[in-house]
Amino acid sequence: MTSPSAERPGQSRAASGVLLSLDGVVAGYGGGDVLKGVTFDVHEGGITCIVGPNGAGKSTLLAAVSGILRPRLGSISFRGENLVGSSPRAILGRGIVQVPQNHSLFREMSVRENVEMGAFLVRDRRVVAERLEHITSLFPIVAQRARDKAGSLSGGQQRLVEFARCLMLDPALVVLDEPSMGLDPKTLRSMFETVRLMHADGRTILLVEQNARAGLRLATHGVVLENGRVRLTGTGREVLEHPEIGALYLGGAVAPEPARS
Ligand SMILES: Nc1ncnc2c1ncn2[C@@H]1O[C@H](COP(=O)(O)OP(=O)(O)O)[C@@H](O)[C@H]1O
Ligand SMILES: [Mg+2]
Repeated sequence: MTSPSAERPGQSRAASGVLLSLDGVVAGYGGGDVLKGVTFDVHEGGITCIVGPNGAGKSTLLAAVSGILRPRLGSISFRGENLVGSSPRAILGRGIVQVPQNHSLFREMSVRENVEMGAFLVRDRRVVAERLEHITSLFPIVAQRARDKAGSLSGGQQRLVEFARCLMLDPALVVLDEPSMGLDPKTLRSMFETVRLMHADGRTILLVEQNARAGLRLATHGVVLENGRVRLTGTGREVLEHPEIGALYLGGAVAPEPARS
C-alpha cells in the first residue's frame, strides 16, 4: 500500500496514485502568512498523517483544502484539477469531506437525524437509505442510539457519529482534524480503530494528529509541519523513526492541549 518513500512531492503525480496534491501553498488570515509554501501529496488509498506543534498551521491547511480559506499563492489539486477558488460546497461535492477539530453535531437533534444530514447534497432517497444501512453496519452506535439526542452522547461516541455523518456523502477523501482531542486513552484506541475501519472501507484519509505517535503508527504516510512549512515527509514509519522528529514530538507523554485563544 505504501509508495516508495524516495518519491518526492511533485514527482510523477499521475502515475503514483496521488489523490490530492498541494504545491507551494501560501495562506493566512490577513495578518501575515500562516502557511509559507506548503508542498506535499496525499496518496490515494493511504492514510496521511500531519503532525506538528500547536500553531504550526495544520488546521489552516485543512481549511485551505476545504475551500474555507483561499490560498494567496500555490495550487491544491484533486485528481489533477485545481481546487483553489472552488466554493466549500463544490469541494464537498467533489468528495472531500472534513470532520472539524471541535465537536460539530447538532446536540438537540437525534443521532439518526445528524447522520442523515450528512447526505444533504444527495437527492436520491434510495441512495441515502442504502448508505445509511451500510454506515450503520460500520457504526452500530448509529442504530443503537438512533433516537437519542446527539448531545447526550459521550465525546468519543460523538466522534463516531461525526465519522458516520461524513461517510454519508460517500467521500473519496476523509479529512480529520485532531479526532483524538479530549478523548480518554481507551476511547482514543477505539477511535483510531474506527479510522482504520473507514480506511479498510475504501476511504483515503488525511488526518491531523496531536497524538503524533499513534497517528503515525496508523498512517501510511507522514508529514511534519512546522511554522507553516513542511519539515519532513516520508512513510509513517520513517517519520516515526526519524531521530530529530522523535526527540521533538514523540519523546515523552503527549502534552495536554494548551488553552486556545
Ligand atoms: N481564524 C483565524 N484568524 C486569525 N488567525 C488565525 C485563525 N485561525 C488560526 N489562526 C492563527 O494561525 C496560526 C496557525 O493556527 P492553526 O492552523 O489553527 O494551527 P494548528 O492547527 O497547527 O494548531 C496560529 O498562529 C493561529 O493563531
Ligand atoms: Mg488545529
